[in-house]
Amino acid sequence: MAEVLLGVSGGIAAYKAIDVLRLLQKDGHRVRVVMTRSAQRFVGPATFAALSGRDVGLSLFGDETAPDYRHLEYAREAEVMLIAPATANTIARLAHGMGDDLLSSVALAYPGPVMVAPAMNTRMWEHPATRANLATLEARGATIVPPGHGVLADGDVGAGRLASPADIVAAVAAHRPGGDLFGRRVVITAGGTREPLDAVRYLGNRSSGRMGWALAHDARNRGATVTVLAANVDLPRDEGVTYHDAATAEELGRVARAAWNDADVMIMCAAVADYRPRAVADGKIDKSGAPELTIALERTEDILARLGELPRGGRVLVGFAAEAGEDGLRRARDKRLRKNADLIVHNDISRAGTGFGSEENAVTLISSRGETESGLRSKRECARLILDEVRGLLGETAAE
Ligand code: CTP
Repeated sequence: MAEVLLGVSGGIAAYKAIDVLRLLQKDGHRVRVVMTRSAQRFVGPATFAALSGRDVGLSLFGDETAPDYRHLEYAREAEVMLIAPATANTIARLAHGMGDDLLSSVALAYPGPVMVAPAMNTRMWEHPATRANLATLEARGATIVPPGHGVLADGDVGAGRLASPADIVAAVAAHRPGGDLFGRRVVITAGGTREPLDAVRYLGNRSSGRMGWALAHDARNRGATVTVLAANVDLPRDEGVTYHDAATAEELGRVARAAWNDADVMIMCAAVADYRPRAVADGKIDKSGAPELTIALERTEDILARLGELPRGGRVLVGFAAEAGEDGLRRARDKRLRKNADLIVHNDISRAGTGFGSEENAVTLISSRGETESGLRSKRECARLILDEVRGLLGETAAE
């Protein structure tokens, strides 16, 4: 989680910087806002002060009877410098190294490459001066989060609309080589498999995919290269994460085994069917007056156990144990040993307000390093704890 300096310059898109700030905070970043003078005509500094909980930088000059080096302090404390929205004028001033206000002075003093999310009218965006200024910034290592296409504030249609706050925040995550999972390839299965009975029916389960999604989001934010193997998940997908769909236990097993070689971490979060119908009926099974129907089921492969048998080679293998009741924890401990996983995430599905479909979870992490109980938390916070443990286990395998 980083200390982000969010520069806001003066265009109508300045109000969208409020969403950028909120999403950055949601991802655990601390944010300091610096506004240009014209940005203050679009959004009041009090909004950013209240939401960020910190002073907002407005001017190079404060109390002139005291020394003031805030541009240097802000540049020193920032781990990421993001300007969103960046107007054509601000981009020009950055490209030319001007330091005539607080934001441009912080940019001059900031040692790393800046991130710039431009927003302006299409004609300004396409002007050769803007093109040249952006090329200059890119040549210096700046990351440009390109604007989208659409109807602009003045009714024109074209390029120049500020990228969505979600895309900007995803770019911040991808930009940060400092994340503690940077360079690690993390594969996560998510959702629940569906085993077809006939052309229209299936045997399924109630897993929503939320826990796997939260893990993917946090792993991406920590710098990992993330692949999600999704079993029937209907949730919005994150920028910067690769998704493959696999509907049945067999398909999921196939893609998980294929992903194993290139993975540093494999998290088996999906609820996988233990049995599937032995035969899938053609068309639709009709009642034809039968009072009962018996469906023969056969075992599916236990993907986690199968992966657990493969040479580990420094990988970290994580399984989940959805268990109900008193004896659940003991069964989860046993599952870790039986399936040869490095970490088992136990969740008690008999506890109200947790698990399938809900936003919250309460997990116990069982690994060779010991046991940790999370208490009731959001799935996002659970994801963070799980990845903290994974990080620790990766550290151990690296040290071996
Ligand atoms: N799992 C799997 N393949 C299966 C079934 C389960 O990989 N065919 C994985 C799940 O992704 C999860 C873990 O095994 O990480 C535990 O799943 P759970 O349903 O709680 O346990 P079971 O495997 O059914 O437990 P047991 O083996 O004790 O029956």
